[in-house]
Amino acid sequence: MNRRRQIYEGKAKILYEGPEPGTIIQFFKDDATAFNAEKRGTIEGKGVINNRISEFLFTQLGGAGVPNHFIRRVNMREQLVRQVEIIPLEVIVRNVAAGSICKRLGLEEGTALPRSIIEFCYKNDALGDPLIAEEHITAFGWASPPELDEIIALSIRTNDYLSGLFAGIGIKLIDFKLEFGRIWENDILRILLADEISPDSCRLWDIKSGEKLDKDRFRRDLGGVSEAYHEVARRLGLLQDIGEAPNNVVDITKGKGKDKAKEEG
Ligand code: TMP
Ligand code: ASP
Repeated sequence: MNRRRQIYEGKAKILYEGPEPGTIIQFFKDDATAFNAEKRGTIEGKGVINNRISEFLFTQLGGAGVPNHFIRRVNMREQLVRQVEIIPLEVIVRNVAAGSICKRLGLEEGTALPRSIIEFCYKNDALGDPLIAEEHITAFGWASPPELDEIIALSIRTNDYLSGLFAGIGIKLIDFKLEFGRIWENDILRILLADEISPDSCRLWDIKSGEKLDKDRFRRDLGGVSEAYHEVARRLGLLQDIGEAPNNVVDITKGKGKDKAKEEG
């Protein structure tokens, strides 16, 4: 059988060569890791959900002026994207204190930040993705000053758009991580949003109850991980595309189809 070429296997995705030059297939796995892969597990159905959620959010963001790598979803677990040269940064946008910033600065989780804050980590597993300053990025040439300006502008636009989108379905966007890539287009270097946006890469809290609807349920052993991911998809109106939920999420989804989710939105 003619197997397509695998380009890279990461913690949550596998990248394959795409059907045309300059394209890549992203395959979404159910595998989950945390704390630089010290903790490992699987979240049933996660790959299918993240593929669909990421498709939806990248499509919406494209329409909102955030150019990105997404081309189209191919099947339940795969999407076709443009091949970009990944900039080795994890760009984290925070609206409310949670996770590592709480430890670092002694903040109580849930404290609203004085304004949205952008942080940069150097994308390097061996070093544990260390926090860096803008100075490191330009001094080491990971991104040029104009590229960094564009990355910041696109991150702010993404935060504004996604904060509104999630607020509309009763979810507070606490923080999230973005990755960017560069691509040549008619001799012009462009920055595109890349990777994925999903409950793996965001903190999403129910506005009313404060319940966590993201990967922190896995990181912190809170249980109901798959249910939380399904709940995000349901509120986005995507559940009918994802197929049957595992048995343990039936209670959450019972009687709440697309129309209900739309009403809530
Ligand atoms: P942090 O509080 O652990 O620094 O995480 C901030 C946000 O970035 C949170 O929404 C989770 C996301 N994130 C990733 O997507 N990948 C990572 O490797 C890490 C550390 C965080
Ligand atoms: N995915 C990252 C890891 O495996 C960290 C995280 O999301 O918490 O380490």
